[in-house]
Amino acid sequence: MTREGSVRCMTFPGGDGPALIVHGGAWDIPASEWAAHEDGLHAARTLGADLLRQGAAATDVVTEVVACMEAHGAFDAGRGSVLTHEGNVEMDAGIMCGRRAAYGAAALLRETVHPIRLARHLLEADRALLRFAAGPEADRMARTFGLRTEPNAWFVCEREAARHAEIARRQTDYHTSQPFHAGATPRGTVGAVARDRQGHMAAATSTGGTPFRPEGRIGDTPLPGCGFFADRAGAASATGWGEAISASLLCGRSVMDARSPADAARAQIQDMYDRIPAPDGAGATGGVILLTARAGGAVAWSTPRMARAAWCAEGASFLVVD
Ligand code: GLY
Repeated sequence: MTREGSVRCMTFPGGDGPALIVHGGAWDIPASEWAAHEDGLHAARTLGADLLRQGAAATDVVTEVVACMEAHGAFDAGRGSVLTHEGNVEMDAGIMCGRRAAYGAAALLRETVHPIRLARHLLEADRALLRFAAGPEADRMARTFGLRTEPNAWFVCEREAARHAEIARRQTDYHTSQPFHAGATPRGTVGAVARDRQGHMAAATSTGGTPFRPEGRIGDTPLPGCGFFADRAGAASATGWGEAISASLLCGRSVMDARSPADAARAQIQDMYDRIPAPDGAGATGGVILLTARAGGAVAWSTPRMARAAWCAEGASFLVVD
C-alpha cells in the first residue's frame, strides 16, 4: 500500500512473445474486498493466458478477459457496477486494435450484460462509420447484434446498493463534499492489454463509472486515447478519476512516450497528479497498465492500492492487490 498521490510503479520484462497485463481498478481497496479482487484477477489472467497459448488474437484476448471481469462481480464493471445518484447502473467500455488503428466504444449502457462485447462489435472493420454508440440506442444495437441484455435492476448488486444508501444517508454529493480520495470512493474499472503471437497489440477497458454521479456523465473509459489506446508499438488501459484521465490523454500519451514503459507510465501518472487538481484540491490520481511490442511493460499508480496481474509466455507473472 502507498500514500495517496505518491507514484508507484511495477515493471514487466521485455520480450516479444504473448503477454498480458490486467487491472481491476486503483483506489484504497478495503481488506474485505481483497480476496474477491484476487479471485477475479486470477480468473481473468488464467483465461487470457490460455487464449494466448492457443494462439488467439490480442483483440479476442482483451475482449474475453474484460468480459470475464465484467461477469465476476468484484469490480466496478458489468454486474457489480457502482450506482448513479438515482440508484441505476450506467456502463461504458472501449477497445482498440493496434494493428488496424481502429477502436469500438459504448457509453451509458443500462441493459447490455457485456459492454465490452458491444464495443468489440463496433470495432469491426465493416462498421467503420460507426465506432462509438451511447444510451438506449446502444442497448438496442446490442440486441440487434444478438448480445444478452437484462433490465437495469439485474445489474444492481447488494454491495453497491448498500454503498449507495450510505452515501445518500450522509447526503454527500460526489462532486462537491465527498472527500474524493477517501477509501469509500471505489474506482474498480477493469482493463486488459495484450500482445499476441504475431506481436499485435490490443487494449480494452470497461467501467460502471463513479459512484453517486449525475446520470448521463461519461468518463474516460469509452474515449480512445483516454481510458484505452493501442497502436503497433504498445497498448494501455487506465483507471481512476475519468475527467482527469481524459484531460491528460493518459493512455495515448503513455503508449507514445518514447521512454521505457516504466518511465513512461510513471511520468504520465505523475504528470496527471501534478497538473490536474481533484475536487478536494489535491492532485488527480489513478493508474495505468502499459505493454509494449518489444520493450516489456509496466503498471504505475498514485492511489493507495491497485489490483493488477500479468502473465507472459517467457514465464514472468504477478498478481497483487497492494
Ligand atoms: N475511470 C472511470 C470513470 O471515471 O468513469
